[in-house]
Amino acid sequence: MRFATFFFSAAALLTSVAGQTSTLCNPLNATCPNDPAFGMSHNFVFNTSSTVTTSFNITAGALNYTADGAAFTVAKRWDSPTIQSKFNIMFGSVSVVMKAASGTGIVSSIVLESDDLDEIDWEFMGGNSTHAESNYFGKGNTTSYDRAIYYPVSSDVRENFHNYTVDWTADRLDWLIDSTVVRTLHYADANEGRTYPQTPMSVRLGVWAAGDSSLNKWTIQWAGGVTDYSKGPYNMYVQSAEIKDYGSGSEYEWTDNTGSWQSIKAIPMLNGNSGNSTAMNAIIKAETPTLSTAEKFKALPKSSKVAVYAGSGAAGAVILAALLFYCLRQRRSGGLERDAYNANVEKAREEIYKDQMELREKGYGGDSVHGDGFPASPSTPKFPPNVSTSAANSPPMNYEGSQNVPTSPGFHLPNKHTSGGYQRF
Ligand SMILES: *[C@@H]1O[C@H](CO)[C@@H](O)[C@H](O)[C@H]1NC(C)=O
Ligand SMILES: *[C@@H]1O[C@H](CO)[C@@H](O)[C@H](O)[C@H]1NC(C)=O
Ligand SMILES: *[C@@H]1O[C@H](CO)[C@@H](O)[C@H](O)[C@H]1NC(C)=O
Ligand SMILES: *[C@@H]1O[C@H](CO)[C@@H](O)[C@H](O)[C@H]1NC(C)=O
Ligand SMILES: *[C@@H]1O[C@H](CO)[C@@H](O)[C@H](O)[C@H]1NC(C)=O
Ligand SMILES: *[C@@H]1O[C@H](CO)[C@@H](O)[C@H](O)[C@H]1NC(C)=O
Ligand SMILES: *[C@@H]1O[C@H](CO)[C@@H](O)[C@H](O)[C@H]1NC(C)=O
Ligand SMILES: *[C@@H]1O[C@H](CO)[C@@H](O)[C@H](O)[C@H]1NC(C)=O
Repeated sequence: MRFATFFFSAAALLTSVAGQTSTLCNPLNATCPNDPAFGMSHNFVFNTSSTVTTSFNITAGALNYTADGAAFTVAKRWDSPTIQSKFNIMFGSVSVVMKAASGTGIVSSIVLESDDLDEIDWEFMGGNSTHAESNYFGKGNTTSYDRAIYYPVSSDVRENFHNYTVDWTADRLDWLIDSTVVRTLHYADANEGRTYPQTPMSVRLGVWAAGDSSLNKWTIQWAGGVTDYSKGPYNMYVQSAEIKDYGSGSEYEWTDNTGSWQSIKAIPMLNGNSGNSTAMNAIIKAETPTLSTAEKFKALPKSSKVAVYAGSGAAGAVILAALLFYCLRQRRSGGLERDAYNANVEKAREEIYKDQMELREKGYGGDSVHGDGFPASPSTPKFPPNVSTSAANSPPMNYEGSQNVPTSPGFHLPNKHTSGGYQRF
């Protein structure tokens, strides 16, 4: 199911959701503002509200934070908690460690979507414990039958955490389950690239009732049946999301209306520190004060440490006093913690780029995929509903020997783009 389709179908029901779609600017038809870039790599652990809200907008509903991570709950009709990254990646990877929600007709989803409706998906039907659906769309083209493919997962997707990845470059798009590539789509295999996802994507996670009895019968059938809310609440749990932007800019600019990846220009981050991506600055700001007490202690000036050691009888009070002293001192001296943290960020970034280079060295390959789709828009059913599951009869045909296939020569950025801090992997 296209995420946008969800919005369209939900729009009739949820004015707040409808409001979001109406503000979208489609770069194929208009000159749109640049997309904020991620330009970095980060593992978001979904254990506190601030981790999520620093980098994602909660576009519908609310989340709960539990020992199992963030709970996205459908407790009653119209619940559809959803978050959307405040940033975009222009080629990159997303690995979400999650448990899908149970419940017939309840769909848990990981969606990458761009302004011109390129889309990459993982979706989970709450009535189906065994399979995950992979899907993609290019420029909102819903006319083909060959995009949705279901793959078996090693254990119940609702009971167990699994790691669902999409790894996306200009040449190929891989879907992985627990680090095993299950599907590869090459650029040329999507209408000679015309419907290959290739524009800056935000990351959306959410759960909704595609089995609501008010929805189109094809949608309900795709979702696995009518949702019984009395058997809920239905929870999707997200433990973490590791997101890597293979580009390294601060913004992505749509230089024309083609929606081709060659038309996207990365605006470089400036060396003077003021040009970091907004997302990166937000993460740095949010995480800087969260050093552990041990780290704070380590960073204390020597004189304070001596005081702490000496005052064993009243250690707690002394530590507090020392920390207070340290904090005051830090405010004056400009922030040792921040420097230490920034050094760590720098180091992590170096490692990420090293990893990316290694990935590129290794190369990826694979065959194209064929499967069956499903009715793309609830309002205009075009296909018989039963086609959507037949792909399950022919799953991993598509990746055998993928390691032996050399990386395709692919596409090269024009020189003017390489200066934009934009790298192709
Ligand atoms: C873009 O413009 C064309 C022609 O005016 C129109 O048919 C199409 O629906 C528009 N697409 C979007 C997404 O606005
Ligand atoms: C959240 O996870 C991070 C990273 O694993 C950890 O450092 C932090 O202590 C956790 N916070 C809570 C409140 O569990
Ligand atoms: C969060 O959990 C509490 C306690 O279980 C529940 O009452 C509340 O409705 C939950 N909130 C959401 C948004 O699901
Ligand atoms: C997130 O919310 C803010 C504030 O409403 C808004 O300015 C921004 O455009 C939103 N970002 C996305 C990607 O929706
Ligand atoms: C949309 O997809 C169909 C089926 O793959 C294809 O025949 C058609 O050319 C595509 N449209 C565009 C504009 O690429
Ligand atoms: C999820 O899988 C990706 C791809 O193999 C891997 O890079 C990442 O480390 C995995 N995440 C976890 C938490 O295992
Ligand atoms: C930009 O990021 C670097 C680390 O990558 C950091 O040292 C610097 O303080 C950041 N700039 C701002 C304005 O936060
Ligand atoms: C789960 O989905 C797969 C693939 O569509 C299908 O073969 C299987 O029968 C489904 N299981 C249930 C319980 O619906």
